[in-house]
Amino acid sequence: MSLRLRLNLLLGLLNLGFLATLAVLTTSNMRASIQEEITAAHRVTVQLLGTAAQTSSLMGPAPAVMQNFLQRLGRVRANEIRLYGTDGRLRYVSPPSHYKEGRVAPGIFVHLMRAHIDKTLIDLPGARLEIIPDDSRAVLDAWDDLTILFLLWLAFFVTLHLALLWFLRHLLRPAEALLGGLDQLAHGNFSVQLPPSPVAEWDELTSGFNTVAVALQRGQREQRQLALTTQALTENREVTQMIEAGIEAERKRLSRELHDELGQSVTAIRLIATSLARHRDAGPELAANAGKIAEIAAGLYDGVQRIVRELRPAVLEQSNLATALEEIAREWRTLHPEIGLQLTCTGDCSELGEELTLTAFRAVQESLTNVLKHAAARQVEIAVTQSDEILTLDIRDDGCGAPSQPGTRRGLAGMRERAVALGGTLEACPVATGGFRVMLSLPIHPKGKNP
Ligand SMILES: Nc1ncnc2c1ncn2[C@@H]1O[C@H](COP(=O)(O)OP(=O)(O)OP(=O)(O)O)[C@@H](O)[C@H]1O
Ligand SMILES: [Mg+2]
Repeated sequence: MSLRLRLNLLLGLLNLGFLATLAVLTTSNMRASIQEEITAAHRVTVQLLGTAAQTSSLMGPAPAVMQNFLQRLGRVRANEIRLYGTDGRLRYVSPPSHYKEGRVAPGIFVHLMRAHIDKTLIDLPGARLEIIPDDSRAVLDAWDDLTILFLLWLAFFVTLHLALLWFLRHLLRPAEALLGGLDQLAHGNFSVQLPPSPVAEWDELTSGFNTVAVALQRGQREQRQLALTTQALTENREVTQMIEAGIEAERKRLSRELHDELGQSVTAIRLIATSLARHRDAGPELAANAGKIAEIAAGLYDGVQRIVRELRPAVLEQSNLATALEEIAREWRTLHPEIGLQLTCTGDCSELGEELTLTAFRAVQESLTNVLKHAAARQVEIAVTQSDEILTLDIRDDGCGAPSQPGTRRGLAGMRERAVALGGTLEACPVATGGFRVMLSLPIHPKGKNP
């Protein structure tokens, strides 16, 4: 139900209630007033005619004197007078009232307002007077007054409701604009703005609406910007992943080439140099030189093998991070016995998928290289923890903990990019108690799939 209809109904009911109360009070007042008026008029008439009856018998034959008197008297207010002879014949009846002649109030109203007064009989010699109270004019007056009152009320009622309708239409116009505005918002048009309203409350509402619309428009702009940024970020991640995948593929190819080509050639040189050194025709000088060549070739072979392992540790082929890290640790302890290395793996790190394993492995490689380059540390601790959803790496040393300096440093930045590309994070900073710490966190996706 609309607000207009509700207000009109409410006002209508109040008005009707008012009318009903007014009608009850007025009719009850009118009834009392009619009763009072008719009683007084009747009493006066009875007294007058009683006196006239007493004197009439002294003045001659009472019926004739009284009839004559009554004819001269005419109509007495609110009473009908009848004169009967002793034979019961009606000798005289007072003339009807000319006041509002021919009109009567509705029967039910007459019944409601009737004055309850009995007729009075006065006996005189040879005749009988009947004085009958007649309230019909008084009741008609009351009816007319009530009708005027009702018509006035009706005129007031209709005017009031028309005025109310006009006023509400005028007053609620901003509400229609507001509804239109909300509809526009619902359809995604946030640029809508409502005009100011001269009514203070509406003005507050429309300016509130305008503020909300501006905020929504800003939000929409920011959302679009965010969507663009997210898209760019996703593309960036994809590019980073592609680059990393390309680098890994190139490392793989290089390590295979080094192993297959260079490794074989160096082995051949070593074998030839060894057999030359042992040849019976070789002089001592030739044998010594050949032995040196064999020795250098053996060193070269070890070097090639190390590079091959660094480029692509064999264990990575099975995506087993724990085994790959143990191999790094073993090699570290051999090459750098002066720097202690403690490796702890918690959880099964064998089925993380190639991308995750490689990212974690390269992060450890880069961190250990950094320890050698920057830390001057005596101890390094690597803690790898795999839970159901996350793989964390915590690499800390007890070195100088130098803060990172700006410049074209790619190690940590590259690690961070790889981590972010997989939906993870990387933090690297000096530790307050001394040393440096790198924390890598990578989400583990089902079956090793990455975002
Ligand atoms: N273990 C560490 N101890 C002290 N400082 C470190 C350590 N690891 C990194 N840093 C600091 O962080 C900086 C950035 O490291 P990052 O690996 O990105 O670059 P880099 O090692 O200097 O060069 P790049 O790795 O590109 O050859 C380093 O220059 C160094 O100052
Ligand atoms: Mg580095």
